[in-house]
This record gives sequence, C-alpha cells and structure tokens, in this order.
Amino acid sequence: MTRLAGKTALITGAARGIGQAFAERYIAEGAKVAIADINIARAEETAQSIGAIAIEMDVTDQTSIDAGVAKTIDALGHIDILINNAALFTAAPIAEIERADFDRVFQINVAGTLFTKQAVARHMIDRGEGGKIINMASQAGRRGESLVAVYCASKAAVISLTQSAGLNLIQHGINVNAIAPGVVDGEHWDGVDAFFAKHEGKAPGQKKAEVGAAVPFGRMGTAEDLTGMAVFLASDDADYVVAQTYNVDGGNWMS
Ligand SMILES: NC(=O)c1ccc[n+]([C@@H]2O[C@H](COP(=O)([O-])OP(=O)(O)OC[C@H]3O[C@@H](n4cnc5c(N)ncnc54)[C@H](O)[C@@H]3O)[C@@H](O)[C@H]2O)c1
Repeated sequence: MTRLAGKTALITGAARGIGQAFAERYIAEGAKVAIADINIARAEETAQSIGAIAIEMDVTDQTSIDAGVAKTIDALGHIDILINNAALFTAAPIAEIERADFDRVFQINVAGTLFTKQAVARHMIDRGEGGKIINMASQAGRRGESLVAVYCASKAAVISLTQSAGLNLIQHGINVNAIAPGVVDGEHWDGVDAFFAKHEGKAPGQKKAEVGAAVPFGRMGTAEDLTGMAVFLASDDADYVVAQTYNVDGGNWMS
C-alpha cells in the first residue's frame, strides 16, 4: 500500500475526525503529511500519534494560511496534495439564523477553502509539477435541508468552487476535485445529534440511529469509508479527473 510514496500532503482540519483518518491513510500509503488545524494542541497530539507534523492554521485568516503553507513547505520541501477539510456545521430554523453564524460558516467552509486552495495552487504553479487538490463537500451541498440552510449553502458553494478551480487550474496540471460524504459517525455528528435532539425533540442518539437506518448501505459511514476515494483523487490514477464531486455516502444521493 504505497500509492502515495514520495508525496507530501497538507490536510486542513485534520486534528480529528475525517481529516485525521485521511492523514493516517496517506501516511500508510507512503506520503508525508502536515496536519493544519486551528486547534493546535489536538493537532500536535494527533500528529505525534500517527507520525505527521502539526501546523497551526486558521483558514479564516489570510496571514495564518500563508504562514501555515510556508511552514509546511519548509518542513516537507513542497506540497503535492492539499485537502481542504476544515469546516464548521451549524443549524437553525430560518427564523432563528444569526448573521454572525452565517459569516463564520462561510468564512471557514467557503472562503477558507478558496484561499487555502489559492495559496497552495500558487506554490504548485511556481513549482511547475502539478498537484492534487481535494475539497470536502457534502450531501448537504446537493440539496437544502429544512434546518440546515447555511451549512447546505456553504457546501453547495464548495461544489461550485471545485468546478471553477478545477477548470482554471488543470492547465497547470493541478487536479481539483471534491468528495461529498453522507452521514459520517464521529465527534462532528455527536454535535449534529445534539442539535436535532433539541430542535426535533428527539432522545440523544435517536437522530443518529434514524439517519444510519435510512442509508441504503444500512449504516452511517465511518471516516475510513472515505479514505479510498481520498487516495484515488490524490494519486496519478486521477490525472484525467477534473472538477468533479464524488458522492461517498452509502447510496444516499445520486447525481
Ligand atoms: N461528519 C459528517 O457527517 C460529514 C458529512 C459530510 C461532509 N463532512 C465534511 O467533512 C469534513 C470533515 O468533517 P468532520 O466530521 O471530520 O469534522 P470535525 O468537526 O470532526 O473536524 C473539523 C476540524 O476542523 C478544524 N477547524 C475548524 N475551524 C477551523 C479553522 N478556522 N481553521 C482550521 N481548522 C479548523 C477543527 O478544529 C476540527 O479539527 C468537513 O468539511 C465536513 O463538512 C462531514
């Protein structure tokens, strides 16, 4: 299993959850990995346990993005692969959405994805050896949800940015694609479950059980269910794959 031998990767939001699983799998495939996260204590703990390096980065802050990208290049020599994985979930009925929440979600999920991609793409263009950029979208970006307007809209924007950046950057040999997971168990979904418990009057754990049972595959996804697609999109096998968003969701969505 060394499909990424000699490659270097920067993964945002990889201190825990899906990003951590990507980092672990990339290392197993022979890559060197930088975990970039706003939670530097957790990033350092994770990095130490899996053999990555930790980089403090807030994807809402351009100075922090630029410094984090520069530190990654100093430490790893260059960047072959970027995964824009950092994101924030919020939910509220339309009548209760607060402008500050909208701004924060769009700063992280949309502007963070765009400007981290821009910083790494500039490096890849200067280097002249191409690269692979993977954005984390969601089934939430495929259609709106009654209580999840802002997060859904942010993930629809990620799908659109994947298309535009994919078309613009392929001339430099940089492939930009996205993964759209369905429902993936982990700390993130513990928060989602708690939200629905409050707004739909469900018992703790009930929403998770319901969404898992509704997946055609028969259960919620795990972070590990997504790693194969992340390896494929980062590998030479994906050289001719441009501007696509792949559903990895147990059959929840077809498009
Ligand atoms: N878990 C799911 O069910 C699911 C479903 C579809 C899509 N996704 C997407 O997959 C990705 C990973 O999801 P997850 O479940 O592992 O999320 P998570 O909440 O467990 O992890 C997100 C990470 O991003 C970091 N982060 C937050 N704000 C940041 C910032 N400003 N700068 C840098 N890092 C920041 C957090 O510290 C955390 O480590 C996200 O893009 C998410 O939207 C998740």
